[in-house]
Amino acid sequence: MEKSLVLIKPDAVQRGLAGEIISRLEKKGLKIVAMKMLRMDGALAQRHYAVHTGKAFFNDLVDFITSGPVIAIVFQGKNAVEVIRQVMGATDPAKASSGTIRGDFGIDIGHNLVHGSDSLDNASGEIDLFFSAEEILSYDRDLDT
Ligand code: RTP
Ligand code: MG
Repeated sequence: MEKSLVLIKPDAVQRGLAGEIISRLEKKGLKIVAMKMLRMDGALAQRHYAVHTGKAFFNDLVDFITSGPVIAIVFQGKNAVEVIRQVMGATDPAKASSGTIRGDFGIDIGHNLVHGSDSLDNASGEIDLFFSAEEILSYDRDLDT
């Protein structure tokens, strides 16, 4: 079963939207298998967003993601990577569809509330940045059986 990394970004934590975001992903049917709150430092931010190194928005992105606590979550489920991206909505909240997290709660591309891995390969690398193997739990839920 696929696993993907979600970050509830500093703006969502500041606005008290963490529970709403987790709830939407849980209600969709995804299972939490790891979770922690942390303040990312510059080194972790640069590794997490390494693919964007050198882009015009890179420094603002690192400053933003390190500006306050985030909640890192590993969700597991069928097609978890793609399903999470659908629940999140488009990168720019101003263009994201209503009914998505970004579409319902955001307006600015630099404050788009949530991160989700964009491919299975990247999910694996991103999960390893935030969690050790022992921190990822394996369990069954009654609703899955
Ligand atoms: P994320 O990685 O945070 O889940 O977002 P994403 O896949 O939807 O978008 P991505 O292309 O990976 O961009 C990473 C973050 O950089 C900021 N960004 N700003 N000003 C701009 O043109 C611009 N483009 C991207 C966004 O905050 C985006 O989440
Ligand atoms: Mg991305």
